[in-house]
Amino acid sequence: MSKSDRAKEPRPQTSGPLGIGLIGTKFMGRAHSTAWGKAAQFFDLKRQPVLQAVAGRNSDETTAFAAKWGWSSATTNWKSLLTNDAVELVDVSTPNHLHAQMAIACLEAGKHVACEKPLAGTLADAKLMVLAARAARKKGVQTFVWFNYRRCPAVALAHRLVKEGRLGRIFHVRASYLQDWGGPDTPLLWRFQSDLAGSGAHGDLNAHIIDMARFITGDEITEVVGAIEETFIKEREFIAHSADEASGKGAKVLKSSSLPSGKKSGKSTVDDAVLFLARFKQGAIASFEASRLATGNQNRNNIEINGEKGSIKFDFERMNELQWWDHTLDPKLRGWNRIMCTDATHPYASHYWPAAHPIGYEHGFISQAADTCAVVAGGSSIVPLPDFEDAFKTQCVLEAALRSARERRPVPLRELDKF
Ligand SMILES: NC(=O)c1ccc[n+]([C@@H]2O[C@H](COP(=O)([O-])OP(=O)(O)OC[C@H]3O[C@@H](n4cnc5c(N)ncnc54)[C@H](O)[C@@H]3O)[C@@H](O)[C@H]2O)c1
Repeated sequence: MSKSDRAKEPRPQTSGPLGIGLIGTKFMGRAHSTAWGKAAQFFDLKRQPVLQAVAGRNSDETTAFAAKWGWSSATTNWKSLLTNDAVELVDVSTPNHLHAQMAIACLEAGKHVACEKPLAGTLADAKLMVLAARAARKKGVQTFVWFNYRRCPAVALAHRLVKEGRLGRIFHVRASYLQDWGGPDTPLLWRFQSDLAGSGAHGDLNAHIIDMARFITGDEITEVVGAIEETFIKEREFIAHSADEASGKGAKVLKSSSLPSGKKSGKSTVDDAVLFLARFKQGAIASFEASRLATGNQNRNNIEINGEKGSIKFDFERMNELQWWDHTLDPKLRGWNRIMCTDATHPYASHYWPAAHPIGYEHGFISQAADTCAVVAGGSSIVPLPDFEDAFKTQCVLEAALRSARERRPVPLRELDKF
């Protein structure tokens, strides 16, 4: 959007409460409820979030969720948020196939939208979401995507170090997001069904590290050179409602008597792992790997970037630390430095505890909720927040990698980002 188009947008409301509506009450529903509930405790916000209404599917569960997590009302009809005047921003925390229909309806109703990642299950849905976001933007309605790892202080610091030129020219990006919960005992959750999830480890995990690589380097991927997609576990046990309330590895497998037509298992229609190689616009080369079967790697969101003047490494399993190699030092002094990113000079850290007191998983979400409130109030975020346009670039890389794996060819990004 041009500067003059932005100038024509209606002025944002800069004070007063900001009514939030949430759709989804499980893993991300809980993470985001914490975030909206705590943002104004840790950050000074001109517009403080108010937990107005939560939408789920099961009436008793949603009512209990609202009481537990501090929401004023509960509904089993998410569309009621569209006409709820107390709700100004809707948080979409549902499975990927629902992102487009929910986000677009909310934008058309004039609500800001904070949507979970990946932006959508499919590139076609993602395009529709971008078009809706562009139309909404002209009316001052904004979009956000929960790429929460940008707000780990160590990742935000890496972004700043690159921006300050401390890595110099970047040669390598080496990113992997490895988990190991997707073994044969894990049932056929929505995460293993392509009509609900779009893809498997790829959209779930590669989406995060593509976003982190783009965010830290400030550069864009121009080509996926090659890729491998693999589904190791072809069949998984049914659960009662595989698109329903079960989530993560704790899902219960029900007795075979309650399963559809006596069948015990169904086909997994997504990848368990995707690896790909890519090129960045400014010349860096990159590798990405996502897996749910990388035994021994529990939540290993890893990125290493090597530049002419220095390198950084981040591993989410040690999320408070950034490893830094300063190549400008006298060779006898060079070595990996472990920076504990808890000092007041580190991004976000001063909002939490005194120096040297680490933070946890939920703090990335709290920081994102706070930044979102600041931007809705016409201010700015501490480090850039992804909107639908931004998340669409990540979606295009996801799609390019899948095409590259399936068609066994390099895929230039310009093939995908046309409307
Ligand atoms: N940012 C992150 O790190 C992160 C982590 C996990 C999941 N996610 C993303 O968050 C989204 C949700 O994932 P999750 O792990 O919370 O899934 P989940 O299965 O734990 O929860 C999904 C929720 O959506 C609700 N839901 C489904 N259909 C609905 C409907 N029609 N109306 C209202 N509610 C409905 C379910 O009832 C459930 O409460 C996904 O897009 C996922 O990719 C992001």
